Amino acid sequence: MTTRINFKGEIGQDAFISVLDHGFLFGDSVYEVVVTQNGVPCFMKGHLKRLRNSAAGLTMEIPWSDESIVEQIMRTIKDAGNAESYVRIIVTRGVGELDIDPTSCSNPELIVLVTELKPYPLSSYEKGINVALVSVKRNSRDTVNPGIKTGNYLNNVLAKVESNRMGAQDALMLNHQGHLTECTTSNFFFVVEGRILTPSLDCGILAGITRDVLLQVAQENGVLVEQGEWPPESLSKADEAFITGTVKKVMPVTHLDGRSIGNGQPGPVTRRMMRLYDEALEEEGKSSSG
Ligand SMILES: Cc1ncc(COP(=O)(O)O)c(C=O)c1O
Repeated sequence: MTTRINFKGEIGQDAFISVLDHGFLFGDSVYEVVVTQNGVPCFMKGHLKRLRNSAAGLTMEIPWSDESIVEQIMRTIKDAGNAESYVRIIVTRGVGELDIDPTSCSNPELIVLVTELKPYPLSSYEKGINVALVSVKRNSRDTVNPGIKTGNYLNNVLAKVESNRMGAQDALMLNHQGHLTECTTSNFFFVVEGRILTPSLDCGILAGITRDVLLQVAQENGVLVEQGEWPPESLSKADEAFITGTVKKVMPVTHLDGRSIGNGQPGPVTRRMMRLYDEALEEEGKSSSG
């Protein structure tokens, strides 16, 4: 496995950032995770758009063009030389006063971290995973909006710790209204009588790029996906469930709090969406622009 880190345009095996960077001091940063398919970083347009939206949500300016960010990503991927890459793009607020006010930070930093893409174990896809409904709530949209992908993931860290304690592979969080939202690093879907249901963006979730692609391929293939607000009790009617994320792709959830969802096996709708997403990814890997 080769890891390469691009910091200030220089690529090395590691990089060192000032402890006075507000990204370090306050989690004042934004980031994206992208994976490659056939060496092509996938769905870059969506990722770069979300990176800029996230930065705007923190009133942070990204001074680099999309082209120059892509150029740094490509240089780093090439230098690392892995078969397929995991790419983390981080923009921090930069160095400033030892004070929460970001106005003293005039130079944001761009960090591109590339390492070998390590897919999740095959068994997670063949058997599905167990997800725990945790007591930690997803942040409300009027706090650190879950729609922006910041370097402060502490709420999700706490949710993950709780799900670890419950012996589950991930945590499913409710919002403060008691509606389903998402897992710690993935969006959540469930299937009732052949229909796919998923929390709407208004529930306070990240607009996942994988979620977007899934909604698109579902529409193209005549699969109905309903977005809305659902209490956790609606999961008692679920025949299937799955989560989506850039690295996880589409992963079946076959157990909730240790109890079977449906027959406790990845169901036909989930399998179909796994296949459709894989095809979309394969198609994306054929494009030269990503
Ligand atoms: C909270 C949260 N929800 C959903 C996702 C899935 O987003 P994407 O499909 O863009 O990877 C992520 C990704 O890290 C996430 O952190």
